[in-house]
Parts: sequence; structure tokens; C-alpha cells
Amino acid sequence: MASDLVWLNGEIIPMADARIGVEDRGYQFADGVYEVVRLYNGKPFTMTEHLDRLERSAAGIKLALPITRAALEDGLAKLVAKSDVRDGMVYLQASRGVAPRNHVFPEKPSGTVVAYCRALPPVPAPGEGFGAKLLAVPDERWKRCWVKAIALLPNVLAKNEAAGRGYDEAAFVEDGLVSECSTANLFAVANGTLVTHPVGAKVLPGITRAVLFDCAKELGIKVDERPLREDEMTKVQELFITSTTRELSWVSHWNDTPVGQGTCGPVTLKLHRAYRDRVRAQTGA
Ligand code: PDD
Repeated sequence: MASDLVWLNGEIIPMADARIGVEDRGYQFADGVYEVVRLYNGKPFTMTEHLDRLERSAAGIKLALPITRAALEDGLAKLVAKSDVRDGMVYLQASRGVAPRNHVFPEKPSGTVVAYCRALPPVPAPGEGFGAKLLAVPDERWKRCWVKAIALLPNVLAKNEAAGRGYDEAAFVEDGLVSECSTANLFAVANGTLVTHPVGAKVLPGITRAVLFDCAKELGIKVDERPLREDEMTKVQELFITSTTRELSWVSHWNDTPVGQGTCGPVTLKLHRAYRDRVRAQTGA
């Protein structure tokens, strides 16, 4: 069917032949933008406005579209002309393309642009059809950080903001409270107690974090699960971050202010050693 044609990076091919890499950042990080344009009678409605918004959205995530506006318009026109969809939509998506998985943007993003048409049921005439029933829900977009979801664009943008300014990680702060980092959980050692934000809406239940809780218990280190205030961050004795890939990393600076003694603190060190013991016990490494 001609509705199963796909325009992929400048080529119109059957959807069944379209290949997008497993490491496409759209797939792994939701690192992309999209548009839906209505087709009436085989003709796009407000295509210009949609492409304007696509360009604004792309700029909003620092995505350089890998195609000129003219080439994109030309490609979409050809796709729509070849498609047998009369009443429906054009779905258009642009991602930062395929690169080895890393929150930090690739130096030379390849970019993936894909578009295809799909039929939609006719819209009822004005005033006709059923009225819509609405359900009120809390606005939790995105307050489900406990879900290890691939909707990582906010994390990706934060990480790149940090990397671009010479920092290693970005720590999220809201209303003066610090939750976690873009790719790691965050801990402080304050007066000998381990302090970290509770998991849930704002914090991923890190596996490393959970292992560390066990280590702390074993070592007799008290744990206090509470949000850290931003004004505490430079006053605590130690700060460190945790994740599967980096285990524990001690933190030297909060913004531009040094934290602790300028070396890995004793509690962080003890905990990291205990963590390594567990790695060794389970894997022999
Ligand atoms: N990230 N918080 C966030 C937002 C994370 O992305 C991660 C890990 C963690 C730590 O979770 P764990 O200890 O289970 O790795 C906390 C992985 C490593 C990543 O996306 O690469």
C-alpha cells in the first residue's frame, strides 16, 4: 500500500524496508522532536506553521536538522503525492541520530528524519459527534522519576548544559531542594550521617543506591532519607554520586565552591570499598 511508504533521510522506501539503528537517540533517549500535519483531500493543512514549529522545537533542544527546509518540504511533498492517504496525517520525526549511547551529545550527530502518512477517521461536522468526557489528573509530566524510562530528554539537556560549561554532572534543584543528578543518585555526608533524597516522583531508585544502603547498615553508618537543601551543599563534609556505570564518584565542587577537603572523604572511601567487596563477592572481579 502506498500509505506504507516512508520518507527516511531523503529517500522514499517501503516502511517494511526502513531501518533505524538500535542506538538511535530518538529510540534510546527520546532525543528528538516531531510534528503531525493533517491531510485533507491529499493536501497538507498548515504545513508551513508545522515546519516552523519543528524548527523552533529542534532549536529548543539544540538539534541541527540534518536537512534544509527546502529539501524537507520537497521530500514531504513527494511523499504525500506518492501516498494514497487522502484524509489523514503526515507524521514527521527528527532525532539526533545514531551514536554510541552517551547522554552527552555526539560531536557530529548523524540525525535521523523520518516521515510517513496514515489515514485518520473523518472528523465529525461542526457541532456533531459525541462530546468529549474529561478526567482531571495531576500534572505529572514528568514526576515519575522512579520509572527508569527512556524519556531522557530533560536529563540529556541537563547533562549537556553541565558538560558544555565544564562540569561532570548536573544536579536537579527545585524550590531550593536537591534531588539527584542527570545520570546518578546524589549523597551527602553530614555530621557522620548519610543523607539522600527519598526515591519516588523526583528520584530514581538506583540499584547502586540500594547496595550502598546495605553497606552503610553493615558499617554502622546512619542513613537519613530526606531532600538536601541547596544551601547545605557546600557545608556538608562529603558529597558523592552513584550509578551502575561509575559506582561512587566523590564530588569536589558544588557549582564553583569546593566541597570537603579537596579529596575523597573518609565515609565515601569506606562505602566505596564496601561496595567493591560486594562486586568482588558476586563476580570475582
Ligand atoms: N543511569 N538517577 C538517574 C537519573 C540515572 O540515570 C541513574 C543511572 C541513576 C543511578 O541508578 P543505578 O544505580 O541503578 O545505575 C540515578 C544509568 C547508569 C544511565 O542512564 O547510563
